[in-house]
Amino acid sequence: MKNLRGRVAIVTGCSRGIGVALAEALAREGVHLSISARSGDELEAVRRRLETSGVRAIATVGDVTDPAHRSALVERTITELGPIDILVNNAGIEDVRRFEHTTPESLARVIDVNLTAPMLLTREVIPHMLTRRQGHVVNISSGAGKLGPPYMGSYAASKHGLVGFTQSLYCEYRGSGVGFSAVCPAFVTEIGMYSRWEEAGIRSNRIAGTCTPDQVVKATLRCIRTGKPEATINRPPVRPLIVLGNVAPRVVRPLFRLIGFTSTLRRSADLNESS
Ligand SMILES: NC(=O)c1ccc[n+]([C@@H]2O[C@H](COP(=O)([O-])OP(=O)(O)OC[C@H]3O[C@@H](n4cnc5c(N)ncnc54)[C@H](OP(=O)(O)O)[C@@H]3O)[C@@H](O)[C@H]2O)c1
Repeated sequence: MKNLRGRVAIVTGCSRGIGVALAEALAREGVHLSISARSGDELEAVRRRLETSGVRAIATVGDVTDPAHRSALVERTITELGPIDILVNNAGIEDVRRFEHTTPESLARVIDVNLTAPMLLTREVIPHMLTRRQGHVVNISSGAGKLGPPYMGSYAASKHGLVGFTQSLYCEYRGSGVGFSAVCPAFVTEIGMYSRWEEAGIRSNRIAGTCTPDQVVKATLRCIRTGKPEATINRPPVRPLIVLGNVAPRVVRPLFRLIGFTSTLRRSADLNESS
């Protein structure tokens, strides 16, 4: 999708964090926006800010796991903004803790929000895209969707699921005019979940690395423009580790320990479990 001006995009998880950065970048490109999240006041403030870029923006408050919210989001977007060109499944939650301390409820919730809801929203949106033979779906996965970090069992499962789901649809809908991309960022600085870890004193080290919101935005726009199926945003030392981890899974555990990844995540788990 080379030209973005005048297109219509849904971005979920847009009351704070990465979703806001993505929506703002799309607005700067002239894309009209339909945003959603549960926090109504924050979402409305973002909607108003987006309109200052000269695009139309609507906000639908609700939970992505609620089928009525998903349907309302799609219907309102089409009625008030026009046919949907872009869907960004960004809303997500984390639950960093020892797996034996994960409750069945929190496990189910992580899978529902991070994986099942994006799949069902995609299912609702793509018939409209297929009819028009154009559209693009971006699923915001994570580095945890490429290798399974410790203390993140349910999150890693949900994000691996998103990568597999995206790859499946990318292959299935070849030639349909509809594209699919998974975006897999490392820890993102300044905004979002990891920035709250930093505020609590938990920091990734230099080797394991971080990425900036700007890098996530650029990678996402590039996926939409070029149809690239996957973007992994990470520091160069981590990339060979992902490849190596896929051919030789045994090396992942010592390497995670060596680069300090395991201890960073253990500190985050300790913090969650003590609060
Ligand atoms: N930050 C990172 O380092 C990082 C790295 C890799 C991948 N990611 C992924 O990037 C995405 C955005 O993360 P973030 O860091 O920006 O997180 P965040 O700051 O916690 O923001 C998450 C957004 O999702 C919304 N959300 C959460 N649960 C929802 C639900 N059930 N229904 C509707 N909206 C919901 C939140 O809004 P309400 O609470 O108002 O509903 C909020 O707008 C997530 O998928 C995350 O897994 C983040």
